[in-house]
Amino acid sequence: MTGAGVSAESGVPTFRDAQTGLWSRFNAEELASPQGFERDPGLVWRWYMWRLGQLEEAAPNPGHGALAELARLCESFLLVTQNVDSLHEQAGSADVLHLHGSLFEFRCAACAAPHHLTEGERGADSPPACGLCGDLVRPDVVWFGESLPWDAVGDAAAAAHRCEAVLVVGTSGLVYPASQLPLIARQAGATVIDVNPEPGPISAVADIFLQGKSGEILPDLARAVADLRTGG
Ligand code: OAD
Repeated sequence: MTGAGVSAESGVPTFRDAQTGLWSRFNAEELASPQGFERDPGLVWRWYMWRLGQLEEAAPNPGHGALAELARLCESFLLVTQNVDSLHEQAGSADVLHLHGSLFEFRCAACAAPHHLTEGERGADSPPACGLCGDLVRPDVVWFGESLPWDAVGDAAAAAHRCEAVLVVGTSGLVYPASQLPLIARQAGATVIDVNPEPGPISAVADIFLQGKSGEILPDLARAVADLRTGG
């Protein structure tokens, strides 16, 4: 399971790191809640278009690549991410479960109809109107106070119940319900491995804490697993 930290070395800011985290510079309630969107849709739109531009500039780092490699090396592997970027897919990971949606997808805030964004709409000061019902279009990401996509949560929870090991990478472990997945796995008998430069709530319960950057630790881990597989 990954969080914003796995994309940090691709130049994508995390949320809660002091100084550089988005929530230390911007107001989450204003920019990432249904109430904030209702109050000032233009402000929310412009902020997400700015972030979309940032994500389009970013390229996968060795951490993303190593997770795609680990999936190939393991008999069964599920990648669950809280990230709204597409860096896992760009690195070659298939079937990524996005718990918090995707910043590359858009839908109507009222009728939920998918919306394909045009170049003109991207540069606009306010969100476009839905072609079906005329309400405002919003990014298809999960905002504070909203439910997560139930199918993704169900699949992630089922995997947590049956997995042998859960590798938790670059998440503060502060956002519910994603934060529960490693705990569910641990209770079901799995080994929990946390990869993070900083200790936190996940490392506190993890069986193994690999302290450091995921772009440095994960390639070593993938190499070690590859060596085991080939008897090296
Ligand atoms: P956070 O910003 O809360 O946490 C980022 C984590 O990444 C921290 O624990 C950092 O120590 C760690 N980190 C920083 N650099 C790293 C690196 N190079 N390698 C590995 N780890 C590193 O981000 P998330 O836990 O993903 O929700 O946040 C969870 C959710 O909160 C996000 O999905 C977002 C946010 O509000 C929504 O947008 C719904």
